[in-house]
Amino acid sequence: MPSGRPLVFGHPPGVIPAWRARVREALTAGATTPFYLFSPAPVAEILQRFEALNFGRPATHWYSTKTQPLAAQLRWWRNQGRPAEVVSESEWRLVRECGFPVDQVLINGPAKHHWLPAVCADGMRVNFDSLAELTALLPYARRHRWRTGLRLLTAAEFDPEQPDFPTQFGLTPDEAALALRRLQRAGLTPEVLHFHLRTNLSDTAAHRQALAEVAAFCRSVQWWPRCVDVGGGLPPAHTLGRGGRSLSAGHNPATYEPLARMMREALGEFSGLEEIWLENGRAILAGSGVLAVRVLDVKERRGVRQLICDGGRTQHALLSVWEQHELVPLAQRRGPVTLTAIHGPTCMAFDQLTRKPFPRSVRAGDVLLWFEAGAYHLPWETRFSHGLAEIWWEESPGQFERQRGPDPIRPPATPATR
Ligand SMILES: Cc1ncc(COP(=O)(O)O)c(C=O)c1O
Repeated sequence: MPSGRPLVFGHPPGVIPAWRARVREALTAGATTPFYLFSPAPVAEILQRFEALNFGRPATHWYSTKTQPLAAQLRWWRNQGRPAEVVSESEWRLVRECGFPVDQVLINGPAKHHWLPAVCADGMRVNFDSLAELTALLPYARRHRWRTGLRLLTAAEFDPEQPDFPTQFGLTPDEAALALRRLQRAGLTPEVLHFHLRTNLSDTAAHRQALAEVAAFCRSVQWWPRCVDVGGGLPPAHTLGRGGRSLSAGHNPATYEPLARMMREALGEFSGLEEIWLENGRAILAGSGVLAVRVLDVKERRGVRQLICDGGRTQHALLSVWEQHELVPLAQRRGPVTLTAIHGPTCMAFDQLTRKPFPRSVRAGDVLLWFEAGAYHLPWETRFSHGLAEIWWEESPGQFERQRGPDPIRPPATPATR
C-alpha cells in the first residue's frame, strides 16, 4: 500500500459530516464501540440513480442478500415492493422471515439440490446451475410449477486471481443446451438467462462480452429468454484498490450511464426480450454503513505511529485486504500529520485497517470511522478473540436502534458452568 500519496475517495460534500452526526447520535443512544451503523438513506439515494437509467428494457434490481444479510435493511427493501436474490437455505429463510413473498425471491447459487427440497414451495423462481442440480430438482419444479432460468458460464467469467481458470458456476453452453431441452420437454421452458461475472468489474467490457456470448448461445439453440439477468459486479463508489486507484472510475458512478448505454446496445441483439434484471450488491449497499472503533492505545516505532483500536480488519473489515476505504476520526482532529497504522486488537500483524498519513492529534479514546461498510462486512466478520460487534440501524432520520448486542465468544452462563 502506498504510504505517502494522499488517497482520494471523493465523497460528495455532506456525506462524511452526515455519518459523523449519525454516529454521535448512535453513541448518545447507547452504542458501544466497536459497532456497525447502517442506514437505508444512502441505499435510497443510489437506487434513484439506478432507476433513472434507461437500459432499453424495464429493469428490476434484486437485493443481493449475501452482500448484506441484515433483516432491517431487507425489510426496508421489501416494504418498497422490491425483490431479493438468495443463494442458500439460510438466506432463503431470512428473506421469508422478512416477509418476501415466494415469487419475489430469486434462487441462485450452486448445489441447490441439497437444500431446496426442504423448503420447496409453489411458484419458486430458480436459476439452475448444473445438470445434476436439474436432474434432482426437475420433479419438484414440475410439481410446484417453478419459474425457471439457466445460469450460463461465459468466457467472460473466470477466477479473477487466476484468469486462466474458469469459475465453478453455471452451465457450459453445451450443458445449457441440454438443460434447455430437458426443461422444454418438461413443459418448464426457462424464462431467464443468467450470468454473474465476478465482483468489482473495472469497466463494462466484461458485461459486453458476456452479453454477446449469451446472444450467440440463444441464436445457436433458437431460444430467446423473456428476461436476461446480468448478475452484479459493479464496484461501489469511493473505494480504492490497494494501489490507490478508484475501483469505480470506469463506470462513472455519479450516473452509471456507461453501463446503461452498453446494455441498450448489447440488448438490441436479443429477440423478444422483455426485462433486464440486475443483482448489484456492493454498488448499492456499500455506502449504507460505517464501522466505528475506538483507539485504545498509541505506540510509535521505526517512524510509524500505531493506533491500537477495539475493532479492525480481522474481526470487522476483511475487505481491507483488497480495498482501501475512507477512515476518519469522529472528532475533527487537525494539525500535523504523520504516517499512522490503524490496527485492530487481535494478535495478528495482519489486523490493520490502513496505513496512511493521519493527524498526530488523534489520541487514545478517540472514535474512528471506517466507511463503505455496508457490503461484505457482516458476512465476513469473525469472532476472533473478542466476539461480534454491535449492530445499529437508523430506522428513520435521527432514530437509532440496536439490532444486535455485542456477542462475546464465551458461552452464555448455564447452571453447569456457573
Ligand atoms: C449470483 C450473484 N449475484 C450477485 C452478486 C453480487 O455481487 P456484487 O456485490 O459484486 O455486485 C453475487 C456475488 O457473489 C453473486 O454471486
